Amino acid sequence: MKVAVIGTGYVGLTTAISLAMHGHEVVGIDLVEAKIKMLRQGQSPIYEPGLEEALAAVLQQGVLTFTTDLLEAKESEVLFVCVGTPESADGTADLSYLLASVSEIGTLHRSVPRARTVVIKSTVPVGTGDRVAGLLGDCKSLFVVSNPEFLREGNALVDALKPSRIVIGANHDEAKAVMERLYDGIAAPRVLTTRANAELIKYASNAFLATRISFMNELARLSTVLGTDILTVAHGMGLDSRIGPDFLRAGVGYGGSCFPKDTIALLQLAQEQGVSLNLLDKVRQINRTQPLWFLQLVKNAIPELKGKQIALLGLAFKPDTDDIREAPALAIIEELQRCGASIRAYDPIASSAVQKIFPGVSYCGTPAEACQGAHAALLVTEWKECVQLPWDEIYANMAHPALFDGRNAWPVKEVREAGFHYTGVGRS
Ligand SMILES: NC(=O)c1ccc[n+]([C@@H]2O[C@H](COP(=O)([O-])OP(=O)(O)OC[C@H]3O[C@@H](n4cnc5c(N)ncnc54)[C@H](O)[C@@H]3O)[C@@H](O)[C@H]2O)c1
Repeated sequence: MKVAVIGTGYVGLTTAISLAMHGHEVVGIDLVEAKIKMLRQGQSPIYEPGLEEALAAVLQQGVLTFTTDLLEAKESEVLFVCVGTPESADGTADLSYLLASVSEIGTLHRSVPRARTVVIKSTVPVGTGDRVAGLLGDCKSLFVVSNPEFLREGNALVDALKPSRIVIGANHDEAKAVMERLYDGIAAPRVLTTRANAELIKYASNAFLATRISFMNELARLSTVLGTDILTVAHGMGLDSRIGPDFLRAGVGYGGSCFPKDTIALLQLAQEQGVSLNLLDKVRQINRTQPLWFLQLVKNAIPELKGKQIALLGLAFKPDTDDIREAPALAIIEELQRCGASIRAYDPIASSAVQKIFPGVSYCGTPAEACQGAHAALLVTEWKECVQLPWDEIYANMAHPALFDGRNAWPVKEVREAGFHYTGVGRS
């Protein structure tokens, strides 16, 4: 099928490549010329494992092209909308990019009418699909579908090629049939439902995952006081098939482009309907305070941070991505700087993005370099480069051998044997 993907960020680019790999003829469209130029040359503007190799393959096969001109999508039977829906000042989802894109689709359709399905992949509040359908109401043979995306950054291509489920919110049988044809050959459970249900499935999924994380983080605070081990507790909990092992890791809090903005957008959506989501409100509050709670562990050990050197290992909001949106590292840097500490940071990919926000941090080429002369080293993102370390060398070069493991990922026995003082999140 001929498919257009509007917006070539984390979701759009991955979607475009995976659809091309599944045999569709895809055109990727973005406003940003520099991005399109890079993509045409086979360079990915974002870091995702395997993405650039896959991009090169589909470009070579001629099944994926890129443009800034929506007119090049005039032949496309399916148009995916994958533009950003960031948080507005009041916490609601900012739909301005989405509505601008929809308006451009309307203009295209009115000048070149043909059967088309507009698929909203961006995460949008319940009712947005109906609103878009209303805006395009005069466009004959045009259907609007909600098809939320569940990919995880750092694993995006694998998730797009083998999704956990395909949720299709369509209010017309014709549109459902188009989507079935599009995803034919992809083995994944289907949820065929209304647009509104599909929209809520996305928000509910992210809110629930955020809830699990905040639950474990709050429990880790208790575990720290009790002297119990949150990793063992999580393991014991996760063996219950009703609970399952995923998203039970205590740490420095969740970040990224989705959980923070989607939880506040869901809260705002509920509030507009006169419903209070008290639990979700607490989930966000726990997450906001988690980096500061973690830093309190550091302050307990080093009451005077002024003039001390602190090594931060990992800056991206999670490993295998360059995305720093809402990364806990940002809150940690801000607080450490407020306390007068000087920071030496390492991240294999995300340093240059963080440098634009915090030019006063020293960015180092290796974790060992970041730890040189440090009074404490903090693991903020569990990149494998930040987890498997030459402990004896690091021990010899730190001013004080204190490790604060914000992801419970360092090998406790090994580092203690090397002579470090180790503190994890909720660990005995
Ligand atoms: N990143 C994730 O892990 C993820 C996962 C699932 C869902 N989502 C949702 O998917 C959507 C996109 O997220 P993202 O992380 O890919 O965003 P992003 O910011 O990485 O990419 C959005 C892209 O859209 C482009 N764009 C904006 N307006 C445009 C227009 N009118 N025409 C063409 N291009 C336009 C931007 O230039 C940008 O390249 C959001 O709603 C997000 O919540 C994201």
